[in-house]
Amino acid sequence: MLSSSEPSQIKLQAANLEIRRLRAQDVPDIMEIESVSFGRHHWSEESFYNEMNNQVGRYYALIHTDINKLVGYLGFWLIADESHITTVAVKPEYRGNALGELLIGHCLDRCAQHTIHWVTLEVRVSNYSAQNLYYKYGFASMGIRPKYYQDNQEDALIMTTPNISSAEYRQLCKDLKQKLDKRLNGLPKGYGT
Ligand SMILES: CC(C)(COP(=O)(O)OP(=O)(O)OC[C@H]1O[C@@H](n2cnc3c(N)ncnc32)[C@H](O)[C@@H]1OP(=O)(O)O)[C@@H](O)C(=O)NCCC(=O)NCCS
Repeated sequence: MLSSSEPSQIKLQAANLEIRRLRAQDVPDIMEIESVSFGRHHWSEESFYNEMNNQVGRYYALIHTDINKLVGYLGFWLIADESHITTVAVKPEYRGNALGELLIGHCLDRCAQHTIHWVTLEVRVSNYSAQNLYYKYGFASMGIRPKYYQDNQEDALIMTTPNISSAEYRQLCKDLKQKLDKRLNGLPKGYGT
């Protein structure tokens, strides 16, 4: 996963957004974002079609409803009491306006409804913007997977939440959700559902 620090141009509010399950017809829009976000070794169309049929997978699209265009997406697996975030990305011109946060918040809300206790992921050691997003949501660095990324042999940082059903973590999510609600003038249709 690559680092992203592009300046953002397009700011959206909750009323112009919707989160819904990913559909096969979203894949071409996703491929555009994949290639600019993850370089040559991004997921293929086939990976997304397969993942949409994965029994343990949950994949969501973030839609700019004014133009009916996908501007972000996120996927995760639910396995026993753990969830693993497999992918998350926001279209470059929409970054820096809390949409990545919206997707992560949505994921954590969904996981809490599935009696998940821990949420984990891997992120490139150089991807500070994504790491900051995860730190904001209480993920901690648990170690390194050496040479995890095949394109440049970069190490992955393994990041994990504390127990998301703990009172402390629920309070953190509540506080962040309130701030997000204020920043986006509400929460979009489909958030947490
Ligand atoms: C990572 C990504 C999804 C973040 O989406 P985003 O919409 O730009 O992020 P947000 O605006 O919601 O930012 C949320 C937090 O992330 C961190 N963050 C986001 N962009 C950052 C940047 N350029 N520099 C430093 N921190 C950043 C901040 O902590 C921010 O909180 P703040 O607004 O209180 O400062 C987006 O940059 C992206 O699509 N990157 C390419 C794909 C990728 O790397 N995915 C992650 C793979 S593990």
